[in-house]
Parts: sequence; structure tokens; C-alpha cells
Amino acid sequence: MSQAFDTPDTRAQWSSEPAFVFSMTAAAVGLGNLWRFPYMVGENGGGAFILAYLICLLVFGFPIMLLEVGTGRLATGNTVKTFRKAHRKFGSLFGSFVVLLTVAITSYYLVITGWTLGYAVSAVSFDISSFDEFTSGYNSLYYFFAVTFLCVAILIRGVEAIEKVSKFLMPILLLIIIGLVIISLQLPGRKEASEFILATDFSRLADFNIWFFALGQAFFTLAVGQGYLITYGSYIPEKTNIPRACMIVTITETSIAFLAGWIIFPIVFTYGLDPGEGSALAFNTLPLAFEQMTGGAYLAIGFFSLFFMAAFSSCLAGLKVIIAAIEEEFRFSHTRAILITGGLMIVLGVPSALSFSPVSLEMMGMPFLDFVDQFGGTNTVVSSGLIGAGIFCWSIPRKKIDQTLGAQSRFWSGKIMWVGRAAPFFLLLIVLLRFV
Ligand code: ALA
Repeated sequence: MSQAFDTPDTRAQWSSEPAFVFSMTAAAVGLGNLWRFPYMVGENGGGAFILAYLICLLVFGFPIMLLEVGTGRLATGNTVKTFRKAHRKFGSLFGSFVVLLTVAITSYYLVITGWTLGYAVSAVSFDISSFDEFTSGYNSLYYFFAVTFLCVAILIRGVEAIEKVSKFLMPILLLIIIGLVIISLQLPGRKEASEFILATDFSRLADFNIWFFALGQAFFTLAVGQGYLITYGSYIPEKTNIPRACMIVTITETSIAFLAGWIIFPIVFTYGLDPGEGSALAFNTLPLAFEQMTGGAYLAIGFFSLFFMAAFSSCLAGLKVIIAAIEEEFRFSHTRAILITGGLMIVLGVPSALSFSPVSLEMMGMPFLDFVDQFGGTNTVVSSGLIGAGIFCWSIPRKKIDQTLGAQSRFWSGKIMWVGRAAPFFLLLIVLLRFV
């Protein structure tokens, strides 16, 4: 059993519990809610997927979220250090793998965030182009550089700057979402949309893949298994009630994903688009609908600004995971760690950006961005979340988890231990069901 958690280190902190809630929500709400969730629902049968998703969120997502945030606070360190404190032998190796996963995800996440910025800029100038037009030049590259530069400029100012940006962006984001939902619900396609979202064909729940994708979505969106929760947890101030704070984050984050569905599907059905269009929905098909709608140009401004704000604050979190690991593991200065991380993102992100440009860079027959996405996709995120939970719960004594979660947390710590200890076996079952 790990004794390493007995001596917590001092570290920078969020200024308060609400500051953590704002920052964590801003980190968790991202493309996963606004872009990935609606298309997952669209591809996997509407209500049935939503039900599977909610069950996965409750049974695995939320308890593992609490575990990761709690251990981050216990270790008061980056992801590698936190896993090393839990398990001296394998912890560093596994923690490094989690950081590498985040390196991969963040490198292409910055490119997609660049697209959202590009679309927001064209929306403001009332000149939205199709995705093919947008990527016919080097827009992907230019906007990727712009977003990476902006992130570095904020991150250099430390945790405090992330807190300020999150407190500024989250209320605007919520207002835009509510405004867009109200507008979308005026459209004639709302009836079909509600049938699509609410009707649950229970027979589809017999399909194992729906459950697997639902689990992947729950982990991706809550940022489980990617070091975000551990890293943001490591800056939590002493008095924070972690279960309460994480509950607020989860409820807000899930509500935003649902609201995104209520924005997108009424538009999809009103303009005869295909709800199962997949990842192309936001950038390819919706702009066509905006073109046809009365006031669509203004709606597009709200829609793509919303996308940009949500994705941008998630980029900050992804980069913070990498910066904290480089800074503390290699004992580099904060500025040096940020510059190295920025450089790493440029090296890895440029090929992804170039895959959606005239160069059309490919790897193994697919755009480079999609290739990296395969590494950071559902399989890896689910494995990383479940193995990480197993490492924590088989190594850290329950009383330590109790202690970090606070006095009223015995209910949660019992559930967490159960879920975490079962997680590696559950992963084995998933592998057997999927690949054998
Ligand atoms: N969890 C973040 C998202 O949903 C990264 O996009």
C-alpha cells in the first residue's frame, strides 16, 4: 500500500471552491459536448444511446472522476507524480502514458479549435464557407497557430489566468446556449427532434457497441483518464467539498451536452439534414442550414463563438496537464515548460493541420488528424480511465480516499473503491466482448 500520500506538498491553488468549479467545468465542456455528443446520439439511435450514456456516467464516469480529482489533491502534483505516489513501480510509466495520450489528443484538439475560431471569424464577417472551401487553403494551419499562441499567452500567467478566463467564458457560454436553444425550438423541426432525442428503442440496448461508445463518450466528456482531473484536482484548496464540486461540474456539463442536442437536431430536421452524418455535422452540414435560415448569419455567429469558447478552455486544460508534468518531472522553469509544450504541440499539430489543407497529409490511408484521433479515441480513453482507476484503488488505502473527499463522503468512497477495483476486470471483459 502506498505511504507516499502521507506528506502532501505545497502548490499553487484555485482561489476558492467556485473557482475550481468554473475552471473544471470550462475544461470539461468542450467539443465532446457540443460536437461529439450530438453526433454520437445521431449515429447510435437517439434516446437509447442517451440512456446508456447516463448509466455509464453514473456507474463509472462520476465515481472515477471523484477518484481522479481526489488523488490529484492528495498527491498535490502532476499526473505522473500522482500515479508514482500511488504505485512506485508502475506509476511513473502509466502516468507518462496518460500524459502522452493527452499530448496526442491536445495536438489535434488545437487544430479543431482553430476551425471553430476560423468559422467564428467568418461568421462575424457574414462569410461562412463550406468545409471544403475552408480547407482548400491553409486556414487549418493559420488558425491552429493562432489558437496555440493564444493558449500559451494565457498559460504563462499560471493557474490564476485559467481561473479568470474560465470565470469570464462560462457565463457567456451558458447565455449563448440558452439563446440558441430558444431560437432552435421555434423551428418546425423541433417535433421530429424531440421524437428523435426522447424516443427510446430499448431493443438497441442489446447492442454491446452502444454501451461501449456511451462509456467512451462519458469518459471523453468528463475528461476521465486524460490527466485533466488529476492536474486540476492538484490545485484544489483545502476546504473544497470534492463530491459537491464535481457534482455541479457533471450536472452542468451533461446539461450542456443535452442542450447542444436541442440546438442541433431541430436545425437538422427542419432543413432535411441527416442526423447520422457523424463528425461532419457541425462543420459541413450546419453551415448549409445557416445559409438558408432567416437570421441564420447571426445564429452562426452565436453557434461558432460558442464552439470556440468551449473548445478553447478545454485546450487550456489539456496543455496544463502537459506543462505541469514537464515542469515538475524535469524540474524546468514554468516558462521553459510552457515553451517546450508549445513547441511540442506545433511539431505534432502541424501534420494534423496539414491533413486538412492542399497538402492532404495522410498516414496509413487516412488524414493525419484522424490517425492521431485513433490513438486518442474511445479505445484508449476507456482503457486509460479504467486501468488508472484500478491502479489507484488497488494501491491507495480507502481511508486516504475518505480523507481527501471530505467527511460526508463515505458513501462515495465505498462506491469508488468498488468501481475502481473492478475496473481492470471490466476492461478485460470489454476487450473479450469486442475483439474475441
Ligand atoms: N472533455 C473535453 C471535451 O468534452 C475535452 O471536449
